Amino acid sequence: MLEKDIQEVLFSEEQLKTRVNEIAQEIDRDYAGKEIMLISVLRGSFIFMADLCRAIDLDCTLDFMSVSSYGKGTSSSGQVQITKDLSEDISGRHIIVVEDILDSGNTLSYLLKILEHRHPASIRLCTLLDKPDRRVKPVEVHYSGFTIPDAFVVGYGLDYAEKYRNLPYIGILKPEVYGG
Ligand code: PRP
Ligand code: MN
Ligand code: MG
Repeated sequence: MLEKDIQEVLFSEEQLKTRVNEIAQEIDRDYAGKEIMLISVLRGSFIFMADLCRAIDLDCTLDFMSVSSYGKGTSSSGQVQITKDLSEDISGRHIIVVEDILDSGNTLSYLLKILEHRHPASIRLCTLLDKPDRRVKPVEVHYSGFTIPDAFVVGYGLDYAEKYRNLPYIGILKPEVYGG
């Protein structure tokens, strides 16, 4: 049972669904008449990506990229590695990078820089969660689901030591689980 490790439910399935639909509508409005490409940053964003893309009405293509900076710990090492690159060429295309959480900003500031060098027509960031208290590198966010306090959150794609991604809601992990 995963529930025993959760201190508090931060966002229920219902709350997540409502907010994801709102973001999708915002994207539909902003890019009306255009074709967009969603880039999911694996692995954390896979569930958000799946729900977001199904709530978007526009012509849309999808691609996936894998970056890792956390390893098994609870805070970013600052060392970002691309473990899987995109399959598609993004030049001249309207890109939205889809992330589960913006924390220190290390992952996204690095990633956005790399993607900008590939000359997309435009590039925006869509993150489900934003934890501004922990920001080390500034990152410009265009779509943000929720601003959250500095607590260790899991579920809906977010892991601790690769577990809890399959929780259907987002919860705060009990500190004793990670020795906090
Ligand atoms: C987590 C999260 C974001 C990133 C945010 O990914 O999914 O991608 O860290 O942290 P930052 O703003 O401090 O860089 P992680 O490296 O744990 O890989 P994962 O998505 O496979 O869990
Ligand atoms: Mn991630
Ligand atoms: Mg992780």
